[in-house]
Amino acid sequence: MRILVAGGAGYVGSTTIETLVAAGHAVTAFDNLTSGHRASVIDGARLAVGDLQDRHNVAHVLREERIEAVLHCAAKSLVAESMADPGLYYRNNVAGGLSLLEAMRDVGVQRLVFSSTAAVYGEPRRVPIAEADRTEPINPYGATKLAFEGAMRWFAASHGFRAISLRYFNVAGATQLNGEDHQPETHLIPLVLRVAAGEAGHVQIYGQDYPTPDGTCIRDFVHVRDLANAHLLALEATGEGDPSLEVYNLGSAAGFSVREVVEAGRKITGRAIPARPLKRRVGDPPVLVASSRRARRELGWTPRASSLEQMLTDAWAWKLAHPQGYADGVAEAQGEPSPSGPERGMAASAATI
Ligand SMILES: NC(=O)c1ccc[n+]([C@@H]2O[C@H](COP(=O)([O-])OP(=O)(O)OC[C@H]3O[C@@H](n4cnc5c(N)ncnc54)[C@H](O)[C@@H]3O)[C@@H](O)[C@H]2O)c1
Repeated sequence: MRILVAGGAGYVGSTTIETLVAAGHAVTAFDNLTSGHRASVIDGARLAVGDLQDRHNVAHVLREERIEAVLHCAAKSLVAESMADPGLYYRNNVAGGLSLLEAMRDVGVQRLVFSSTAAVYGEPRRVPIAEADRTEPINPYGATKLAFEGAMRWFAASHGFRAISLRYFNVAGATQLNGEDHQPETHLIPLVLRVAAGEAGHVQIYGQDYPTPDGTCIRDFVHVRDLANAHLLALEATGEGDPSLEVYNLGSAAGFSVREVVEAGRKITGRAIPARPLKRRVGDPPVLVASSRRARRELGWTPRASSLEQMLTDAWAWKLAHPQGYADGVAEAQGEPSPSGPERGMAASAATI
């Protein structure tokens, strides 16, 4: 299959591309490199540099690359930033997403898989969260993801799209080639590993008095390799059936407490990792975990690498091999992304179109 991965130079996109290429698919990454890294797109894939909001360029790439299915991982995804600037999030995640949908419709590409988020649920009434549970996002980030799901549903009904939305919480771990390098970094595991590496003095633990076994919040984590496999299975599943939007949670169902993550970090790295207890943060529910029974049953998804030890071991190995993240790579030093547009939307490097 010929697949376009929007956001293919990001953490989830780049690792998923590795899985798609290994499965024999021809892959083109489409990315504006605002938070992605040119060096993360493996040699076996192509990279088109451009912004999703430029609908004509997106349609041009879909046509030129003879794309049959799209995996949409491109988004702005910082909750605090979304609270400070909701317009930015609606423009990028909703208007940009709509531009992608319309370009797909114009070119006749109807297969779509979307990297959504469990933030669409807001504060859950029960855990583990199931797909049919109430969706009531508590920040613009989650709201924009839910809004895009709404558009997907109507593009299925009106334009024959076969679409799947995958909702998940925290992604962790690394492959040998790609890992997590976000600026700013807000995710717990890379923050723990920054302390282990001596780049920060301590980890902050918000709240010690939650109704959980050790008093700290419990969160859901999925290994990025397992997630990549779920995206592959979902893309394959869009090949048959009636037009529809199907929604699947991807989670561990049990989750890990913040203290467990820090403890496991100490064990895996052999470093001290000081932790500083702080007061609870407003809007942090005690337990956030999702049930992935539906994905296991219908997509045949089996997470194999999502133990805390495996996620930390792989993330730590990647960090040791890339102490400066992608700034260590040569490809990123090749220059700024080209301006987007039908002729000039492509950057130039060995793996780039
Ligand atoms: N990482 C997580 O823990 C997590 C959890 C739940 C959901 N998600 C979702 O998964 C997806 C991928 O997350 P990630 O951690 O890989 O993020 P990321 O920031 O590493 O990757 C997103 C990529 O999209 C690109 N992008 C953003 N807006 C674009 C636009 N308008 N046009 C072209 N490219 C654009 C960025 O440059 C980046 O390469 C996101 O949609 C995110 O909301 C991530």
